[in-house]
Amino acid sequence: MKRIERIGLMTSGGDAPGMNAAIRAVVRTAMFNNLEVFGIYRGYEGLIDGQIEQLFSHSVSNIIQRGGTILKTARSERFMTKEGRQKAYMNLLEHKIDAMVTIGGNGTFTGAKIFDEEYDFPVVGLPGTIDNDLYGTDATIGYDTAINTVVEACDKIRDTANAHDRLFFVEVMGRDAGFIALRSGIAAGAEFILVPETTTYIDNLARLVKHDWRRNKTSGIVIVAEGDDAGGAYEVARKVKEKIPEMDTRVTVLGHIQRGGAPSAYDRVLASTLGYAAVSGMLSGQRGVMAGIIDKAVVFTPFEKAIKHHKDINLQMLEMSRILAL
Ligand code: F6P
Repeated sequence: MKRIERIGLMTSGGDAPGMNAAIRAVVRTAMFNNLEVFGIYRGYEGLIDGQIEQLFSHSVSNIIQRGGTILKTARSERFMTKEGRQKAYMNLLEHKIDAMVTIGGNGTFTGAKIFDEEYDFPVVGLPGTIDNDLYGTDATIGYDTAINTVVEACDKIRDTANAHDRLFFVEVMGRDAGFIALRSGIAAGAEFILVPETTTYIDNLARLVKHDWRRNKTSGIVIVAEGDDAGGAYEVARKVKEKIPEMDTRVTVLGHIQRGGAPSAYDRVLASTLGYAAVSGMLSGQRGVMAGIIDKAVVFTPFEKAIKHHKDINLQMLEMSRILAL
């Protein structure tokens, strides 16, 4: 195996709070091991366009607490084409980069896997996404911060919902996964949590809402994951209102505020640990894998598995949330 002397580093896909802490950890660990580090801007897009710049220890000063990513990020259609990947490879050769650390989610690792197969190029991944939908880690970088953002917003919504006796439908991110919805819903004491992993029956939902109101409730929160099969929060609210026209309903779509803000202490520690592990792992021969933490231990999971073996949502917790909100 070729000795690794220069590594590339990028963030790709949707940004997540804690990406900067991961960048800092990768750069500083690499420098400690006498590696040169090259920042690749805007993910695979920047790799194709040659937006590459050397990073030093001071380049990552004062960023551990910042949301977003100093390396910028993008979703790249071009990297999904052979021509795009060839251009990307040529740019890596030009900068004499021997290996790469990519921080991102499903799309990022799918790209990295194809790239390694085509060009025999070592890549180690870090799970950076608020969605927590990767197998091989208990939590992804950004998930904890996003949940805290949702909970803070729901606490505020609850005040006004209570004051006006209203039922709020709050939409949270998660196109394919309900992790954000489930965990933030439990923490916010939501009356109902709708996730893409289970079928939503509007009749049933409306019946339960009526039942709650008959018993004692005068206000409530329904958390709707954006990828729920019944639709987003506006759609679900419309359908419920059809069944209970007398209900005073409102909708809040939290959107991209879930992606921004200073990372929580948990995300900073997770990102730092995984950034350190990615470089150390790479130097001892890890490649084509994502670094994660399972039961407090660092684990390397092949990209294939991290992407395809979707982590299952805990349905018991979904049931529990309903009981606790009765
Ligand atoms: O994958 C992270 C994520 O925030 C999803 O939860 C969401 O569906 C998507 O990105 C939004 O992407 P964009 O910022 O490109 O609209």
